[in-house]
Amino acid sequence: MQKILVINGPNLNRLGKRQPEIYGHTTLNDVEEMLKKAAQQLNVQLSFLQSNFEGVVLERIHAAADANEAIIINPGAWTHTSVALRDALAEIAAGPGFVEVHISNVHAREPFRQHSYLSAIARGVIAGLGVYGYVAALNYLAQER
Ligand code: DQA
Repeated sequence: MQKILVINGPNLNRLGKRQPEIYGHTTLNDVEEMLKKAAQQLNVQLSFLQSNFEGVVLERIHAAADANEAIIINPGAWTHTSVALRDALAEIAAGPGFVEVHISNVHAREPFRQHSYLSAIARGVIAGLGVYGYVAALNYLAQER
C-alpha cells in the first residue's frame, strides 16, 4: 500500500485559532480527519506529524526517505527560511516526491512569503485553496502510482 506522510510545520497546531481571517476556522484535527476519510477511498496509508521543532521534522523526513513515503507538507514559515528543510526534502524529491501546500495564497501576501526554498523541487505547489489543498495533494499523489 502506498504510504503518504502529512507534515505540518510551525504554528499549524494553532489552525482554527490563529488568524482565522487568513487561515479559516478549521482545526488541524479536522484536517487530519478529512484526510483520513479521503484516504479510505484511495488505498493509501497516511501518517501525520505536526511539529514546531525543525529538527523533529527533519528526522521524520529522513525516516520517510528510508521508508519510501511520499509527503504532503505545509512547511509554514520554514517555507521562506529553511535550506535545511529543502536539503532533507531533496531526498524525497528524488524518490516518491512531495507536494507543498499553503492554506493561504502566499503570492497575494507580504513579499517575504512569495519566495519558497522548496517549490523548485516539489512535484507541485498548492496555495490559496484553504484546507482543501491538502485533499487535492492527496488525490494527486494517490493517482501517481
Ligand atoms: C502558510 C503560509 C506561510 O507563509 C505561513 O508562515 C504559515 C502558513 C499557509 O498555509 O498559508 O504559517 O504556509
